[in-house]
Amino acid sequence: MARLDLTARPRRNRKSTAIRDAVRETWLGPEHFIYPLFIHEGSDDIPITSMPGRSRLSPEGLLREAERAVALDLRALVLFPAIDESLKSAHGHEAHNDEGLIPRTIRALKQRWPELMVVTDVALDPYSSDGHDGILAPDGRILNDATVEVLVEQALCHARAGADIISPSDMMDGRVGAIRDGLDDAGFTDVSILAYTAKYASAYYGPFREALDSAPKHGDKKTYQMDPANVREALREVELDEDEGADMVMVKPAGPYLDVIRAVREATPLPLAAYQVSGEYAMLKAACERGWLDERKAVLESLIAIRRAGADVILSYFAPDAATWLREGRPW
Ligand code: PBG
Repeated sequence: MARLDLTARPRRNRKSTAIRDAVRETWLGPEHFIYPLFIHEGSDDIPITSMPGRSRLSPEGLLREAERAVALDLRALVLFPAIDESLKSAHGHEAHNDEGLIPRTIRALKQRWPELMVVTDVALDPYSSDGHDGILAPDGRILNDATVEVLVEQALCHARAGADIISPSDMMDGRVGAIRDGLDDAGFTDVSILAYTAKYASAYYGPFREALDSAPKHGDKKTYQMDPANVREALREVELDEDEGADMVMVKPAGPYLDVIRAVREATPLPLAAYQVSGEYAMLKAACERGWLDERKAVLESLIAIRRAGADVILSYFAPDAATWLREGRPW
């Protein structure tokens, strides 16, 4: 029998489940997820075509889904509202209406599950008649500083309703510092900020925009969201968000940007989140529905890869599925 004269045989550390379990470097559990949910005012749950298994939830549908999430030991939800066209405006006033869909939903969730972390998205796109994250000048430019003023109002509205974590996703400059000051001045020193620090101008948000009917009416988001070709620029955004008082930073999308997650992980001691976005969900679902991938294995692998790259927290539409599958045992 041929025998290679090898000192090192890495396979020895893979020879049994026990040894593989002992030397595994990365862990994935329900505590790592923030579960994104779409809500609307209607009384039915409306399926989202490009996101099989996901719906725009009615208020009752949302409470049912939150109940399921809590039972699966998920600890955090993030809410995205589909707003009726009649409530949309150029300045997105509905974004800071204390009786709006988001504040009412936050109150309902916190009343029933005080321990559940409620995360809210701060940006104007669901409320903007232009479908942009900011306010438009007559010539079509997105006005940074005027937008930040409204974002502060939106953040305060969410804090008043009881949000635990405010998550600005608009990519305006200076919004983290302005929101921190606004929250502190109003006495909300315990409300956290999870900044969408490196959010790219990505095609992978397509299904989300269908879900919320929030696609830009004109133009694209390239003057505020980041260029997919860049990574050093992400580090500059991290520095600024750190200085402005972010409690956690985020990279988005996740799967196609694992190198950015790694670079940001190495650049900051802050906890890092990554968002496995709607397009990543849609791609996996499409292949799994055709039987081309094993859903449980492929999805859990996509998630452990995001953790391995350096993310502490993952925003994923697969959160309840993953929590269910992880109870049955890990595939690795
Ligand atoms: C908007 C926002 C977007 C997502 C989260 N917040 C879309 C966009 O920037 O156009 C995308 C999430 C997803 O695709 O799952 N502020």
